[in-house]
Amino acid sequence: MSLKKMLKGKVSDEELSKVRRSFEIIGDVVVVDIPDEILHLKGMIIDAILKKHKHVKTILRKTGEVGGTYRVARYEVIYGSETETIAKEHGCRFLLDPTKVYYSVKLSGERERIMKLVKPGERVLVMFAGVGPFAIVIAKHAKPSEVVGVELNPIAVEYFKKNVELNKVKNVKVYAGDVREVVPKLEGEFDRILMPSPYNAESFVDIAAIKIKEGGYVHYYTFAGVEEEEELPRRVEELFKSYGVECKAEFMRECGNFAPYVNRYVIDLKVIKKS
Ligand SMILES: C[S@@+](CC[C@H](N)C(=O)[O-])C[C@H]1O[C@@H](n2cnc3c(N)ncnc32)[C@H](O)[C@@H]1O
Repeated sequence: MSLKKMLKGKVSDEELSKVRRSFEIIGDVVVVDIPDEILHLKGMIIDAILKKHKHVKTILRKTGEVGGTYRVARYEVIYGSETETIAKEHGCRFLLDPTKVYYSVKLSGERERIMKLVKPGERVLVMFAGVGPFAIVIAKHAKPSEVVGVELNPIAVEYFKKNVELNKVKNVKVYAGDVREVVPKLEGEFDRILMPSPYNAESFVDIAAIKIKEGGYVHYYTFAGVEEEEELPRRVEELFKSYGVECKAEFMRECGNFAPYVNRYVIDLKVIKKS
């Protein structure tokens, strides 16, 4: 049930119009957006969430958007105190603290989509791996020969390593560091490369270009305005071509909203030829 529905009849129509429709539940931590103008409704919002979701132990109010290199938003704790939690998706468990690392429940559908594309024996590289959700869901449900994850945020790396243990996946290798420095030193090429860093993926196309196999796939994530949607696949193909990778955008979809009229898109690129 949406927060708006939960508060309908209890607050004025003007206040209700400022209430955000949804909130995110990450394990037993809830993240809610309460605009300053209706901050006086905080107590009522906390009560409404707790009434509906009895397992919740902590509620965080988002005070700043996702930002910085580590892509972490700013929060204030408005209920409870413990911010570390275990998120569950696709039969996997992810230990994490949303105030210190990136994790989005909204990408779980995308993780399922990618996991179903991975063929037995594939070697997969997850750049910008975070606490490991793409890498671990793939390792758990597909039959890759190996999944390599690279992550810069040291706290996310620690959670990633713990999550590999927690989910008992054997063929996942975790590398700490910058994709730009770590990936060129990795041995061999990959059948599939994921680039889930939509705000700056274009700066790492040269690195993906070195490591993707001919015939392999790159899943490229980017933010774009809805008006750019039509030309986006060709633009990304051209970008890869400028680094010597001829590829075909076989599929594109919107997989999240970033701002009004700006979405997160994923483009699946099949590599035809490398020069
Ligand atoms: C949008 S998050 C995606 C995390 C993860 N794939 C997920 O879906 O939960 C991008 C991640 O890339 C990491 N990152 C940013 N720059 C990086 C770099 N140069 N090398 C490796 N990781 C980086 C951030 O710390 C962050 O965890």
